[in-house]
Amino acid sequence: MTLTAGRQTEYVAFWNDILATKFERFRDILMNGLSHHSAVWLNGLHVVPGARIVDVGCGWGDTALALAHKAGPDGHVLGLDCVDSFLRKSRADATAAGLENVEFVAADVQTYPFDASFDLCFSRFGMMFFENPVAAMRNIRNALKPGGELVFIVWRDLSENPWVGLPKAVVQEFLPPPGEDARTCGPGPFSMAAPEVVRKQLEIAGFGDIRFDATDGPVTVGDSLRNAIDFQLAIGPAGEVFREAGALADARRAEIEAALRRALKPWQQADGRIVMPSASWRVSARKPA
Ligand SMILES: C[S@@+](CC[C@H](N)C(=O)[O-])C[C@H]1O[C@@H](n2cnc3c(N)ncnc32)[C@H](O)[C@@H]1O
Repeated sequence: MTLTAGRQTEYVAFWNDILATKFERFRDILMNGLSHHSAVWLNGLHVVPGARIVDVGCGWGDTALALAHKAGPDGHVLGLDCVDSFLRKSRADATAAGLENVEFVAADVQTYPFDASFDLCFSRFGMMFFENPVAAMRNIRNALKPGGELVFIVWRDLSENPWVGLPKAVVQEFLPPPGEDARTCGPGPFSMAAPEVVRKQLEIAGFGDIRFDATDGPVTVGDSLRNAIDFQLAIGPAGEVFREAGALADARRAEIEAALRRALKPWQQADGRIVMPSASWRVSARKPA
């Protein structure tokens, strides 16, 4: 794919080469199943009519569309993501919703040439994958008007997120951890779990008024045990261990699936869905006025 600016980092290449197809397969879990963490904040988020907003790592664009509704016809939302196929879905949904105040651009957020015209930069789980998080935060700061706000949602520690921690532990009973040379999506989904680290990164990038609010809540990680097992073996920490183990993983797949089935079964609801606890931070920060 062609990004609007800059070289393609190895992580952006990984998103496009490896993760895009897997994410498309499990879109319902990733976009809707995990949405508790944004619903809590988006419902209460006050957006001034006419506001200009960026959605960082917007994926399939559901949060960008929600923000476009809030900003109203005089507002504008720019959804940025480095995977073009996700944005095709975003554009189709915007058209179907009759929204003309939202655009989607394929770009690496770290290098996108923003002008300082935005009131708000928002991200749900799109901030943890940058090659250089401080450089990315500094670039996002460039997008904001003086006094503009950055609000983003990131996972808390793996130990507080059994929806991925438990399956990883199960898979690691059978397979070795990924090697040093494993290809990855970037620093990773838990790379912004430590508030003291993220606070320092934001300060270095020039933000102030930094605040962390915790959200705990249920996530739906499959509409059946079969779906949940397939999801875990494709994406996230368990999926990474499984993918990197290659032929060994294929040889032990039946045992691993049986163990995952036993581990996930207690979380199955009457309607068949697998619903598990999860934990995130809502981080907010401001560009000085
Ligand atoms: C975990 S997904 C979250 C997607 C969406 N915000 C959601 O909550 O459904 C992370 C997203 O960040 C995007 N991403 C990762 N690194 C990026 C970068 N450097 N520039 C732009 N987007 C990036 C990925 O393509 C992916 O869509």
